[in-house]
Amino acid sequence: FQPKVLAGKRVLLTAGPTFEAIDPVRGITNLSSGKMGYSIARAAREAGAEVTLVSGPTTLPTPHGVRRIDVRSAAQMHEAVMDHIGGQHIFVGVAAVADWRVTNASDQKMKKQDDGATPRLEFEQNPDILASVAATTSISGWPYCVGFAAESENLVEYGAIKREKKGIPLLVGNIGHHTFGQDDNTIVLFDESGHTVLPRADKLTLARQLISEIAKRIEQRSLL
Ligand code: C5P
Repeated sequence: FQPKVLAGKRVLLTAGPTFEAIDPVRGITNLSSGKMGYSIARAAREAGAEVTLVSGPTTLPTPHGVRRIDVRSAAQMHEAVMDHIGGQHIFVGVAAVADWRVTNASDQKMKKQDDGATPRLEFEQNPDILASVAATTSISGWPYCVGFAAESENLVEYGAIKREKKGIPLLVGNIGHHTFGQDDNTIVLFDESGHTVLPRADKLTLARQLISEIAKRIEQRSLL
């Protein structure tokens, strides 16, 4: 039994990897499976929220009762999020968004050259979706923004710094970079009063704990 701690709330999430095209059949992506984001979407729905999931390419089924919007590139993810952010109470950025996109992608499939010449790719930085959303937070405090950080070292130090840099009230750190594709995870929550470890568990268990931690913080804030 899950208490409906997010009844009446609208939650928007990003999940999965992005895919940055090089040509019509090739691209650059990463090893994010989408499991953590999809678990959080499911847990938010179980908690009574109206949930919209903006998803990069994954092989996962859509959680029951969740509205899913499929995108491929970081630019498409950014656009879909900005199109749907109005009226949302909570934004959770779980997607492993590519930091760069290819600016000289080819319209046609690139041909292997007989002389062994290789393509020269050029890049430009993608928009930071989480930071863009955080910048829209109104005086009323909505949307309450939650970010993720996958650090391979010094998580406690970097997590606190990243939370400040992104301008968000809550940042979730993954311990180690071995979480991609795994069913289990260990997470650390960073907020203005410090950090809390949620010990290793399967991603759905952690997602449910995270949803109750978010609900608790929203509740505390509205009592202030
Ligand atoms: O800066 P870094 O990529 O480590 O931050 C990770 C957090 O920021 C995640 O919540 C991720 O979803 C979000 N992010 C984003 N757009 C980007 C890069 C990261 O929303 N372009």
